[in-house]
Amino acid sequence: MKERLQKCLAQAGLASRREAETWIVAGRVVVNGRVAQLGESADPEVDRIEVDGRPLPAGERKYYLLLNKPAGYVTSAKDPEGRPVVTDLVRTIPARLFSVGRLDLTTEGLLLLTNDGDLAQRLAHPRHEVEKTYLVRVRGGLTPAARFRLESGVELDDGPTAPARVDDLRCTAGHSWFKLTIHEGRNRQVRRMCEAVGFPVSRLKRIRLAFLELDHLATGSFRHLTAAEVAQLRQL
Ligand code: URA
Repeated sequence: MKERLQKCLAQAGLASRREAETWIVAGRVVVNGRVAQLGESADPEVDRIEVDGRPLPAGERKYYLLLNKPAGYVTSAKDPEGRPVVTDLVRTIPARLFSVGRLDLTTEGLLLLTNDGDLAQRLAHPRHEVEKTYLVRVRGGLTPAARFRLESGVELDDGPTAPARVDDLRCTAGHSWFKLTIHEGRNRQVRRMCEAVGFPVSRLKRIRLAFLELDHLATGSFRHLTAAEVAQLRQL
């Protein structure tokens, strides 16, 4: 079936659609011996597609991993400062993996990694509003007023947040723990929301993304998604 060229490259696991577009614009992609133009379609089963002179890998195996990211790892394939990166934890997988969205350096928890660039980009797109739940620790006792503000929407410098949900609030000596469920994915959103209501985050862990839960996966380890989970992700 003919598809937009950037989609063919993303489905082959080479790059996200957006990155593939820049390759096409830069003249690095050739279809049937002719330099491709942006907007062109091709059928990977029929057409000969090359990137930098190399043919598209035929039917590269797709990997879908659920990682329990430890704090101190950068969500990236490389870090210019030489800090550990999340792909260090999946070195046994023979593919170039992308993360679906990002977690901050000090955030722990559920991170999806895949070489299915197309699915990664679709899931991370703000339009899809995939629900995420974080386990949050803040200093001090979260007040009812602060909870109300988190749940009704907080004014941030990039606009108000959508209503969120606070569950399982527990206060211990000096700290409060709660689950915060949001369905946006702005940069450092949970930290900024909590700070805006006067309770800076001291620990943050993502425990759920849509229907996927971290469960008892050990910190730093990963599991493969099941075929049923991948199918369900595609339907989101
Ligand atoms: N919100 C944050 O503030 N940080 C993360 O890593 C994820 C969500």
